[in-house]
Amino acid sequence: MDVITAIRQRSSVRAYKSTDVEEDKLKKILDAARLSPSASNRQEWKFIIVKNKETRKKLVKAAFGQSFIAEAPIVIVACGTESKSVMACGQPAYTVDVSIACSFMILQAYELGLGTCWIGAFKEDETKKILNVPEHVRVVAMIPLGYPDEPPSEKSRKSLNQIVCYEKYE
Ligand SMILES: Cc1cc2nc3c(=O)[nH]c(=O)nc-3n(C[C@H](O)[C@H](O)[C@H](O)COP(=O)(O)O)c2cc1C
Repeated sequence: MDVITAIRQRSSVRAYKSTDVEEDKLKKILDAARLSPSASNRQEWKFIIVKNKETRKKLVKAAFGQSFIAEAPIVIVACGTESKSVMACGQPAYTVDVSIACSFMILQAYELGLGTCWIGAFKEDETKKILNVPEHVRVVAMIPLGYPDEPPSEKSRKSLNQIVCYEKYE
């Protein structure tokens, strides 16, 4: 599968089979995160792999009851370990770096036949307590990972001419 095919065909999955994810597939997905770019190549991130069913249920509570999160056999919780570093452009490096790594993982998962859904709606404090995440570390996203139990959804996107301008902001 080429990259653009994965980009075109991937969609968020909100229903999962209980089938386990093979370890070699999980490793490939995590390696996509490891190989992704980061500001100054600092790689200040940590990915917590949650398989324990009780813990997954607790994550559902932290994520405002989004129950499909615990249907997936794995939840990847993506953290930025250095929340103080700010790039010259004013953006915090960790949100950008961790988001790129998550995007790479999501596309790699799709190529392997696995579904994911980016979860941004969660209570960070509660999530940190559940997973023993230190104070200075920030949780950026949760990503349930498993075999989809629903058909892919249709993409709804703005057209290019709505989101692109040339030479100056219009
Ligand atoms: C930063 C971010 C946060 C998101 N948070 C949630 C979430 O908490 N729950 C959810 O079901 N989907 C969440 N999504 C998925 C989006 O709703 C979804 O990507 C968008 O509607 C486009 O659909 P597609 O992923 O199927 O192409 C999130 C996506 C992003 C990028």
